Amino acid sequence: APYVQAVAEALERHGEQPGALLPVLHAIQDALGFVPEGAVAPIAEALNLTRADVHGVVSFYHEFRRTPPARHSLRLCRAEACQAMGARALERHACERLGIHDDTHRSADGTIDFEPVYCLGNCALAPAGLVDGELRGRLTPKALDTVIDAMRA
Ligand code: FES
Repeated sequence: APYVQAVAEALERHGEQPGALLPVLHAIQDALGFVPEGAVAPIAEALNLTRADVHGVVSFYHEFRRTPPARHSLRLCRAEACQAMGARALERHACERLGIHDDTHRSADGTIDFEPVYCLGNCALAPAGLVDGELRGRLTPKALDTVIDAMRA
């Protein structure tokens, strides 16, 4: 499988240090964008843990993804300063454009993962968001449309 090398490299780089599990998982996620199911057994074996231990940690920490990410990611701030500047309406607009309903977080066409976030430290430029990891401020529905069109192009 294509992820085998990423798992081996992560174990080689971090496997010997105390508390290796988290650094190993982070290295795998950095390399692949997620932690594949098939990584659990080799990690458990290398670190002398049970598979349940590894599973437990992967599912406990919200930051670990268990499925591959979409090609693009859009995150909009939901915290107070951004809310005061219309972030909720902006989020509704984005979800409508993306065809996202309720707790689905991927656009209907599969190209964009959407996630709310809570304060990006960019409150002075509210409403703020992350476009493929890049901080953006003073977002408007029109600016979002441009961003979404570019991601889909
Ligand atoms: Fe949105 Fe701080 S509240 S960036």
